[in-house]
Amino acid sequence: MSEAINPDAVTEYEHATWSRCAESYLDTFAGLTREAVPLLLEAAHIRSGSYVLEIGSGPGHVAQALTEAGARVTGVDFSAQMVAVAQRHYPGITFREANAEQLPFAGNTFDAVVSNFVVHHLARPTVVFQEVCRVLKPGGRFAFAVFGAPEAQSSLGAFFAAVQAHYDLEALPHGPLFGVTDRNVYEPMIAAGGMADLHLDTHDVVWRIATLELVLRGLWDWGNMAALPQELQDKIAATTRENAQPYARSGQFLFPHTVLLGRAVKP
Ligand SMILES: C[S@@+](CC[C@H](N)C(=O)[O-])C[C@H]1O[C@@H](n2cnc3c(N)ncnc32)[C@H](O)[C@@H]1O
Repeated sequence: MSEAINPDAVTEYEHATWSRCAESYLDTFAGLTREAVPLLLEAAHIRSGSYVLEIGSGPGHVAQALTEAGARVTGVDFSAQMVAVAQRHYPGITFREANAEQLPFAGNTFDAVVSNFVVHHLARPTVVFQEVCRVLKPGGRFAFAVFGAPEAQSSLGAFFAAVQAHYDLEALPHGPLFGVTDRNVYEPMIAAGGMADLHLDTHDVVWRIATLELVLRGLWDWGNMAALPQELQDKIAATTRENAQPYARSGQFLFPHTVLLGRAVKP
């Protein structure tokens, strides 16, 4: 993470970004992010009856998938809008509004903590890792999934190239660790968090989605594209559609992506 990053500013824009995405997320990005759930289940050694905390639970679909696998799951998210959507869709699961930098749980509570597509958005990852370690039972596992290398993210890539062609890539709300896959970045943060035995590996996943309009809807909410002049929005949308054509397959889109999967243990 660059020293120039102001963590309070990151917190503010990440909170605004995901609150804006709350109502569309289950129809849009959830189809991609749920592809990592089997990886998290394995990496965190989640068993039937395991007490699991999901950090940054968004609209709740990952907590639901973990529940279906037999885990007893609590989700936390700092966006009240996300928590409201999660509670509405999955009323049998407990979701709480909290910043992961200050988890509202006693120490040594959970068998596993998971975080799906959240770590690259964190303003203070080391503080969050300290909290993860505090709430884990000794021997408990932390598993997280983030995007792999930026050039391997085909759906986002189609959009980013369009934004670069017509506007300004820097204007998009990338989290500080977006696209960072370097072990030398994660290792000291995990160690400072009090955890050990970091493993990082990369996995291929495919985002299958029926229409490109849903991809655009998610990206428009994420990037706050509606705030741009209509003519500019139209150009970016048209170029994104062109860039996405290589991924069209018999009436749907298949976007290859890579996921960086991390796991560590509380000693
Ligand atoms: C990309 S979404 C991921 C949602 C879900 N985990 C998934 O796999 O689709 C990131 C989520 O993390 C939440 N988030 C980001 N930073 C957070 C923090 N510091 N504390 C709690 N939640 C946070 C956001 O509000 C958002 O719901």
